Amino acid sequence: MERTFAIIKPDAVERKVSGKVLAMIEEAGFNIVGMKKIHLSKCEAEGFYYVHKERPFFGDLCSFMSRSPVIVLALEKDNAIADWRSLMGATNPANADAGTIRKELGVSIEENTVHGSDSPESAAYEIPYFFSQLELV
Ligand code: CMP
Repeated sequence: MERTFAIIKPDAVERKVSGKVLAMIEEAGFNIVGMKKIHLSKCEAEGFYYVHKERPFFGDLCSFMSRSPVIVLALEKDNAIADWRSLMGATNPANADAGTIRKELGVSIEENTVHGSDSPESAAYEIPYFFSQLELV
């Protein structure tokens, strides 16, 4: 079994579609091994997205991610990292396939409803950024 990290972003929590996202996650066969609702500070968002710090959208992305609460998740299944990325769909909802979360629920390339680890190395940084071992069940 592999683990990945996911965020239900502020746009989805604000629009009260986090339940829909969680249903899609469970229907796709993921076990939710960690889950909590938190309100990131700008500084915490910057630390989480540090790999993007040179990108032109970095400031706006960190402001968006800290504007209201998010739900952070640790997900487990065989092939969890790739399967979660396929369920999310393309970064830009306009380019995402039908049936993916971003196509069904995303607003824009920034307000794209969900985040997911893009590699085992990212998951190994992102899961412990938010969860202690005791919080993964
Ligand atoms: P996420 O998977 O959370 O990882 C980085 C985020 O940057 C990405 O989703 C997008 O929401 C956001 N972002 C904003 N603008 C862009 C852009 N032009 N290209 C890629 N990602 C962007």
